[in-house]
Amino acid sequence: MTASASAQPRDAFWMPFTPNRAFRQSPRLFVRAQGMHYFTPEGRPILDTLAGLWCVNAGHGHPRIVRAIQAQAAELDFVSSFNMSHPLAFEAAARLTSLAPAGLGRVFFSNSGSEAVDTALKIARAYHRARGEGGRIRFIGRAKGYHGVGWGGLSVGGLARHKREFTPLLGDVDHLALPYDPRSSAFTRGQPEHGAHFADELESLLATIHDPATVAAVIVEPVIGSGGVYPPPKRYLERLREICDRHGILLIFDEVITGFGRLGAPFAARALNVSPDMICCAKGLTNGSVPMGATITRDDIFEAIAARATSAIELFHGYTYSAHPLACAAALAAMAAYEEDGLFGRVRTLAPMWAESAHSLKDARHVCDVRSIGLLAGVDLQPREGANGARGAEVGQRCFEAGMLVRNSGDTMLLSPPLIISEEQIAHVFETLRRVLEATP
Ligand SMILES: Cc1ncc(COP(=O)(O)O)c(C=O)c1O
Repeated sequence: MTASASAQPRDAFWMPFTPNRAFRQSPRLFVRAQGMHYFTPEGRPILDTLAGLWCVNAGHGHPRIVRAIQAQAAELDFVSSFNMSHPLAFEAAARLTSLAPAGLGRVFFSNSGSEAVDTALKIARAYHRARGEGGRIRFIGRAKGYHGVGWGGLSVGGLARHKREFTPLLGDVDHLALPYDPRSSAFTRGQPEHGAHFADELESLLATIHDPATVAAVIVEPVIGSGGVYPPPKRYLERLREICDRHGILLIFDEVITGFGRLGAPFAARALNVSPDMICCAKGLTNGSVPMGATITRDDIFEAIAARATSAIELFHGYTYSAHPLACAAALAAMAAYEEDGLFGRVRTLAPMWAESAHSLKDARHVCDVRSIGLLAGVDLQPREGANGARGAEVGQRCFEAGMLVRNSGDTMLLSPPLIISEEQIAHVFETLRRVLEATP
């Protein structure tokens, strides 16, 4: 984009998840980004506390990733992966599986988190059908879960506002409760001590409502992200894993946010030591630079589907841009950058200071809870009487005016910076947020 982009945006662009009419009154445009910052058309730096949208883990404009994309565009711009492909697709898949828990050795590429999720749900049904358990069609998601905007992801997602205009969704879906009790767990750093029992709801759902043999998969974000940053209580995910195993149900982790270092390991599955049957990822996979999603599955899931395939093609699923050459080049460069720059270890080093700074807001104006884990934090604000979300939106706008990009989900402020953030910048983020909160009615 050039400096002329500072003119009013035209009406033709229907912006996603945006109050379009309000945006036109005060457009928020960026024309450049580098490291921890965006730059407005006027050249004003804006500190990015959200890694773009939970994407840019290695920081903006990482030279290695930029070079890889430029070179790839000149070398091989596009090739489909329908019955043909290119070497980087195989390399990217292999490298990705090297970051996943043991046994997850197959990668299905797509272009977004939403597609990675819908792919996982389709694979789950196909897997059961291949094993002669075609009655396993139900999915179980969770309250406040966000799994993108495809029909499958929307159905298993737990954010009611996202669904309202689009029903009917998939009918065969239930939701577990949010595993969080503010009475015992408010202001917890990392995983709450209490709350493993929330997983038992899955067992009672299976015992009382559904025949377990009708359930295909349970899908959860290991740490709920967009829904407000809720780390799982200790032993909660382990218990979900045990219950799924007992009933032959697949466990899918949606790691679109938690993948690629957010918790100080390649995946939350590894940071938290619970291995799912499938992992969905996107965003940080290419450092946000080229759209790409991936569904990583256990080897035997592919093998079961392949063994029973009724035609040469094992799975009738795929996208024109699955394993796009630019995305593969970007993914390989991003994964190399994470390793070379030691970013996952850096998160482990910074996490205590991040938590300390986030929780220093405990006595700040309007704050009623702070949750943190790795380089993630959610700060709940007391909602205004009769105007849910208004205070969060105003705080976000005031932060922007103070030179800082902070996202709000209703009255929860969400923070998830590039993993290159410095200690000084962390201190600055929470001091600025405190000042903004003091000034906000
Ligand atoms: C956990 C999770 N799953 C899926 C998605 C959807 O990803 P996309 O917007 O790339 O489709 C998101 C997006 O924020 C997400 O946070």
